[in-house]
Amino acid sequence: MEFTIKQSAQWPKMKTDCLIIPLGDSKTLSPLLKTLDKSCNGLITTLIKQGDIKKSTASTSLVTVTGLANISRLLFVGTGKNTAVMDFRKCINAVAASLNKTPSKNAAIIFSEFNVDGVDTSQLLQQASNLFEVSHYSYDKTLSKKTNKPSLKKLSFFCEHVNSANKQALANGHAMAIGTNVARELGNLPANFCTPSYLATQAQALAKTHSKLSTKILSETQMHKLKMHSLLSVTEGTLEPAKFIIMEYKGGKAADKPTVLVGKGVTFDSGGISLKPGARMDEMKYDMCGAASVFGTMNAVVKLNLKANIIGVVAAVENMPAGNATKPGDVITSMSGQTIEVLNTDAEGRLVLCDALTYVERFSPKAVIDIATLTGACVVALGKHASGLYSNDDALSQKLAAAGSYNYDRAWPMPLWDEYNQQLKSNFADIGNIGGPEAGSVTAACFLSRFTGKYKWAHLDIAGAAWVGGGAKGATGRPVSLLTQYLIDNA
Ligand code: BES
Ligand code: MN
Ligand code: ZN
Repeated sequence: MEFTIKQSAQWPKMKTDCLIIPLGDSKTLSPLLKTLDKSCNGLITTLIKQGDIKKSTASTSLVTVTGLANISRLLFVGTGKNTAVMDFRKCINAVAASLNKTPSKNAAIIFSEFNVDGVDTSQLLQQASNLFEVSHYSYDKTLSKKTNKPSLKKLSFFCEHVNSANKQALANGHAMAIGTNVARELGNLPANFCTPSYLATQAQALAKTHSKLSTKILSETQMHKLKMHSLLSVTEGTLEPAKFIIMEYKGGKAADKPTVLVGKGVTFDSGGISLKPGARMDEMKYDMCGAASVFGTMNAVVKLNLKANIIGVVAAVENMPAGNATKPGDVITSMSGQTIEVLNTDAEGRLVLCDALTYVERFSPKAVIDIATLTGACVVALGKHASGLYSNDDALSQKLAAAGSYNYDRAWPMPLWDEYNQQLKSNFADIGNIGGPEAGSVTAACFLSRFTGKYKWAHLDIAGAAWVGGGAKGATGRPVSLLTQYLIDNA
């Protein structure tokens, strides 16, 4: 979709398939809507009087008009008191859902009618372009009948100010959404399609699109040479070869230290010998959503042509039971040299990530952020509304939390206290891979922290945020917006 921004006063000159009109809960029309009403011979007041327009928050009313030369449809949306970001987002989502069902090829929205206390226009524009683009995604890769795509190609935002901040905000939201949709597609793709090898080919394909991006894929043989025995212990039981994917984007100066993103790419997590129960096991195709968010973010970075050095690393494996699979009680030696007692083969994400976190030391990173659907316990703690945020650096943690809030892709800080770390003690290795039934998301993060002493590090546990279950089952593409915003802020 193409997004443009226009000055509010320009609206009389517009010609559009659909004019989107936000209506507040006050009895009188705003000055801008009054002039608009006059220009269409009082149509808006008539429709309101007749009761054709629902005014409750996020209710939409679509009216086909015949008497106007330049407008084919009016789409009203109730904005209520216009005070909460959440309500604003509901309005945009409702508008997008209604608009996408119409054959409109272009549309215009009187954006200056949206007002959220304490939130500036550019932040609202960024969220709006993000939501509109995300609304155009639908999954049909493995359906025999393809879904109908919306007709909309161009959306104009009528705003009070046409300035560079507002233009950039539209572009940022757009890029985040494109990245989000990439992540959603990879997440939704079934595990018999989306294998580690498939992810590797995706990385190679992305590198072809941009001169500043290059890709390297490590095979299992190369991983053996690097002594990544923890990562490799997870892939023992599967026939799918593991892939270690490195995407290097050079948009900054040669001397600028890179920010490194590390994604958990377990393309299917059966639990291994510590086999998971059958109910909802299909959802473990989503266990590569951390990796998907790295792909999505790299796409957004490329699209925005960010002036920074950014490295995306994806540790891609499948976790399956077999005669040669790793067994509970087995002890392995990680790339860092620390030995690990694998008490539960279903706590595989940390086994994969710890070697990736050791590998990335070679980049002398400015910061390392890993993203993983790491624990069911995080879903218990935070539900789907926030990603768990852990860090060994307060400033980094605050920047990530702020980047998330700005785009309503929120993360919430969690502790890495030594008391929790104690839960990982093992009698047979330097560390056990589980920390008992209490604080499972925290102890998983503590496990990772043992491998991140050499740089500033943050960990996002996205187990709750990455996909939704039930009737609307599907990947959300989170936290691509958070990550992209963080990278924009630090470019
Ligand atoms: N991929 C899962 C975590 C998960 C489970 C995410 C359900 C979302 C929904 C991870 O590999 C896992 O199995 N973790 C175990 C850890 C446990 C064995 C300590 C878990 O959370 O049960
Ligand atoms: Mn698991
Ligand atoms: Zn897992």
